[in-house]
Amino acid sequence: MENKKLKIGLFGFGVVGEGLYRVLAQTPSLEASIVKCCIRQANKKRNAPADLFTTDANELLNNPEINTIVEVIDDAEAAFHIVTTALRNGKAVVSASKKMIAEHLPELLSLQQETGLSFLYEAAACASIPVVRNLEEYYDNDLLHAIKAIVNGSTNFILTKMFEEQIGFPEALLQAQQLGFAESNPTLDVNGLDAVNKWSILLNHAYGIVAHPRRILFTGIQNIQGSDAAVAKEKGFDIKLVAQAKKLKNGKVAAFVLPQWIGAQEPLRFVRNEYNGVVIESGFADQQFFYGKGAGSFPTASAVLSDLSALRYQYKYEYKKLYRHQPHTLSQDYYLRVYLSFSDWKNISRESFEWIEEWHAQAERKYLVGVLHVSHLLHEDWWQENGTSLVLTPDPIIDDLDLVQVKKKSLELAGIAD
Ligand code: HSE
Repeated sequence: MENKKLKIGLFGFGVVGEGLYRVLAQTPSLEASIVKCCIRQANKKRNAPADLFTTDANELLNNPEINTIVEVIDDAEAAFHIVTTALRNGKAVVSASKKMIAEHLPELLSLQQETGLSFLYEAAACASIPVVRNLEEYYDNDLLHAIKAIVNGSTNFILTKMFEEQIGFPEALLQAQQLGFAESNPTLDVNGLDAVNKWSILLNHAYGIVAHPRRILFTGIQNIQGSDAAVAKEKGFDIKLVAQAKKLKNGKVAAFVLPQWIGAQEPLRFVRNEYNGVVIESGFADQQFFYGKGAGSFPTASAVLSDLSALRYQYKYEYKKLYRHQPHTLSQDYYLRVYLSFSDWKNISRESFEWIEEWHAQAERKYLVGVLHVSHLLHEDWWQENGTSLVLTPDPIIDDLDLVQVKKKSLELAGIAD
C-alpha cells in the first residue's frame, strides 16, 4: 500500500498545537505538512509565520488540498463541530479532546461507520503512552482481567509535590498550570473529571463499554488532606488518583476513578509528578506496566505524531471489543473497602456501611475503614461533602459472592469478630 502524503489543517496552537508544529518540523520522514492553522485569537503572538494562521475554520474544513484535520483545542463543543464536519467532508481526523470524545462517543462511532474514515485519538488518554492502540489491538476481551491506571498528570503532579516535597495545594496547582499540564479550567483535573473522561474512552477500547462519563463513579483529589497522607504513610501507602476496571465473577465490569492507597510493591507507586502509568492484568501474561509522561507539550504531541504516522497507512480503530465480541457492561453491584476521613460523625452515613473495621474518633480529623455497597457512592453525595475525603484501600473491590468470607476475615484481623 502506498503511503499517503498528509496535508494537515491544524486547529489550535496552544501547548499541544505548537508542540506538534515543532515536532513535525523535526520529523521530515513523515512527509506531513501543516497547510493552515486555525486559531481563536488573531492578535496573539505566535512562534510561526503569520501566513500559517487563520481564524476562519472553513478555510481548513472546505479546503480540498487538506486531507487530514488535527484538532487540539480545549473547547469540547467547538471540537465536536470540527471533527464531525471534517469527517463528513471526507477528511481523516486526529483529536486530543478527551472531554469531547467521551461525551459524544455514540455519535462519533456512527459517523466513523458511516464515512469509513479514520478518527484517531491516542493523545486523548495518557499522552505519550500508547494505550488506546494497545488495548484495541493486543488484548483479547476474555483475557483482560483488570486495568489500574494513573491517567491524569496534573493531579499526580500535585499529590507528589504536596506529599513528597511539602508544597501547599495552591502552589502545586500553580506549578502544574505554569508547566502546561493542567486544563485551562483546572477544576476538571482536580475534581477527577478529566480522568473520568479518559477512563470512559479507555473502557471502550478495553471492554467495548460505551459509558458516558456521568455514569462512571468518580471523584478527584479536592478533599484530600495532609492528615490523610499521614495516615496512609503510617500504614505504608501513598495516595494516588487511580482509574480502575475489573471483570467481576458475573462477567460485568466494575469501573471507577477514585483516590487510592498504593503499596510500596505496586508499579503505580513509582509514577510521580506528571507521569502516567497503566497496569494491565491479563490471562497468562499476568501483570504488565506501561509508564510515560501523561501531560505536557511534546509528550502529547508525540501521540498525535504517532496517529499521523498510522494514518499514512490508513489505520482505523476497529472497535473490536464492541463490534466483534459480546461487549461487556458496567456493574453497579459490588462492594468497596474504603478509608474515609471527616470532621464530624454527623456528616457520615454510618448505616450505609456493611461493616466498619477500624475507626479513630478522638482527633479533630476522624477516620474509619469500612465496607459499603457501591450504590451508596453512586447515588449519595455525603461521602464527598463537608470536606469528607474518601480513599480506596488496596484491592478494594469485593464481589458479592466473596462478601461473607471477607467480612469474617476482616473482623478477625481487626480483633472484633463475634
Ligand atoms: N490536564 C491533563 C492532565 C492534560 O493533567 O493529565 C493531559 O491530558
